[in-house]
Amino acid sequence: MAESRGKSPSRGPNRPSAGDRGRGHSRTTVSSAGGARRRRGRAPAETAVDLSPSRYIVKVDRETGAELPDEIEPAELLVHAHRDHHPVEIAAQFLASRLVRVTGNEALVKKGLKTLDRLGARAASTVADLSGDPADEGRVKRLLGVTARDVLFRFRETTHLTEKEVKKRVGALQKDARDRLRAQGRHPRMRVLLTGGTGFLGKEILAQAASHPHVEEVVSVVRPQAVRDRRTKKVLRVLTPRQRGAKLLKQLHITGKAARRFRFIKGDIEKPGFGISAAELAKLKKSLTHVVHCAASVSFDDTYENSFRANVLGSRNALAFSNALQSTPGSPFVAHVAIETSYIHGRRKRSIAQEDALVFPRHFYNNYYELTKAMASIETDRALIEDGLRVTQLLPSIVIGHSRTGNNRGDTKVLNAPVNAFGRAKEAMDSLGGTWPDRARGWLVGLIATTFPADRSAELNLVPVDRVATGILAALGTPEAIGARIHLATDNRIRSEEIVRVAGEELGVGVRMADPTLTRNLTLPVVKAVLTAMGEERLAGVLEKLGTIFGVYGEWGQPIHDVGNDVRILGLPIQRPDTSAAFRMLCRHNHHVQAFGRVRDGDEIARRERLWEETIDAIEFESGRQVASLRAKEFRRVLAERIELRSFVRR
Ligand SMILES: NC(=O)c1ccc[n+]([C@@H]2O[C@H](COP(=O)([O-])OP(=O)(O)OC[C@H]3O[C@@H](n4cnc5c(N)ncnc54)[C@H](OP(=O)(O)O)[C@@H]3O)[C@@H](O)[C@H]2O)c1
Repeated sequence: MAESRGKSPSRGPNRPSAGDRGRGHSRTTVSSAGGARRRRGRAPAETAVDLSPSRYIVKVDRETGAELPDEIEPAELLVHAHRDHHPVEIAAQFLASRLVRVTGNEALVKKGLKTLDRLGARAASTVADLSGDPADEGRVKRLLGVTARDVLFRFRETTHLTEKEVKKRVGALQKDARDRLRAQGRHPRMRVLLTGGTGFLGKEILAQAASHPHVEEVVSVVRPQAVRDRRTKKVLRVLTPRQRGAKLLKQLHITGKAARRFRFIKGDIEKPGFGISAAELAKLKKSLTHVVHCAASVSFDDTYENSFRANVLGSRNALAFSNALQSTPGSPFVAHVAIETSYIHGRRKRSIAQEDALVFPRHFYNNYYELTKAMASIETDRALIEDGLRVTQLLPSIVIGHSRTGNNRGDTKVLNAPVNAFGRAKEAMDSLGGTWPDRARGWLVGLIATTFPADRSAELNLVPVDRVATGILAALGTPEAIGARIHLATDNRIRSEEIVRVAGEELGVGVRMADPTLTRNLTLPVVKAVLTAMGEERLAGVLEKLGTIFGVYGEWGQPIHDVGNDVRILGLPIQRPDTSAAFRMLCRHNHHVQAFGRVRDGDEIARRERLWEETIDAIEFESGRQVASLRAKEFRRVLAERIELRSFVRR
């Protein structure tokens, strides 16, 4: 059973031991032509980029504590690399999961696993003593699945300064920002550069900014978009950033005077200075008060290189951009806001993930998305301390649709993916017919797609998108947030068993919970083999992807993200959104508005979401109750009275 240890938490930005930075840092550079498949719309990069995790992470000899010069392979920083290697270990994981279910006591089970590991190690050493052959110790350990590692990882620290010195610097940066805001009088006029405005969260930021009393202008950095034929994938036309912006404002129902606040300019976060033209840059230097860096690659199965380029390189470019603004004489720049994720804390079973401490996770990262976002956070710490950049770090947990309506503007990522899969599987199973092989195939797919690989007690931290965007806009006018990491998360986490219960009620689908270890190691490989034998390789791939990507988040031992700074520093309401109610609305929304991800056209989604919101307003007004509190059957009845659901038009 795996064992590795991170360094004890330090408050504030990570601090280096003397000479830490760059030492033992073997460089992995990948040239523009090398590496992974490139994503849609991305131009080939011209420069070689240092992709090595060693800029952020050190490998340490567990026994001596000495830093090892070995190259760190990105894969060894993921959960997957450290488990499922031995039948005994798989059996122990499975057993642990059962025990957590029966006892409900994770701490006890963790202790039990550790004791087993220790007993295994002792037995191995005894055998070696008795045989007189030291090599026997390793042999017995391998036989017993004892996998205690002789190395551990820790983050490089970002400063030699003492905690007091850091506090003093941050205090001075906060004062600078406060003075700059005060100089604008009682009604500051903010001019914000936003990256990621076309994304799920970015759209909500734009929607809220349209009526924000202090936001005078939002300049969105947008890349051109290739519109492709869905079947042939042939590029039909390319939308310019301005065209994308105009479409977006229409879909957000932002018109007239409010629309004049928004500007969309061409840029790519992976390019230095976002590749913005010199003339535009000169203009921005004179006007921008804030930069909100929200763009990223939010993909749980992307390659390391792609994730690194979008998330680390993108963040570095954004920080450098803000640095250039801040150091321009006469610039009105106030602060940079970096959007990260509370999952930068990775998998940590023992301790609460503190807001202002970043420790290499004892149980590694679920995917390269989390890992590269953590690296980006370290870059942000460095910009704060070394460059004196006025910067706030905001860390949303898993973002879901609007707290009251579930509206998500067509997002199908993250939690939407399994919910949409459940819904579509239910529909497919309801309409099973045709030949025997067709029925068998449909049944098999349905069976797997309605299986949720999760432990009952696993807790997910969900936060509605409106709360996150409110937090981001609040940060613009909060100088005290500079230098802080703030979790935009919840204190009422949802358990997987509740997810399954609510999905069952709302979608009418019997979702089964399956042991994640068993699903990974047995069910999925078998189903994949059967489907492949039936000539359904693509389907097999999709199901495998769903299971392996989301399975990790359903396992027991998920991190508990501390919250408090959202209220204490940003002044958000202490009553955090009711996660269970928000998840219920996500299910209803994805069922009726999104048709489980089938409705993709942005204009149609915008039309439906507007009608959906108006209908919810009307139902709540008439019933005097929050719509999420209506039982599934009752909600379906009142909804069908108002909306013709097939064509989604008002009755
Ligand atoms: N969704 C979540 O559950 C969640 C949770 C925690 C934190 N976050 C963080 O919140 C932020 C936004 O997430 P999201 O869910 O809104 O993501 P999203 O829907 O996938 O949107 C990503 C945005 O980034 C833009 N982008 C990506 N690469 C770019 C590039 N090279 N140049 C310019 N723009 C680029 C995309 O532009 P295109 O439209 O051109 O692709 C899009 O606007 C991210 O930083 C993410 O890490 C999200």
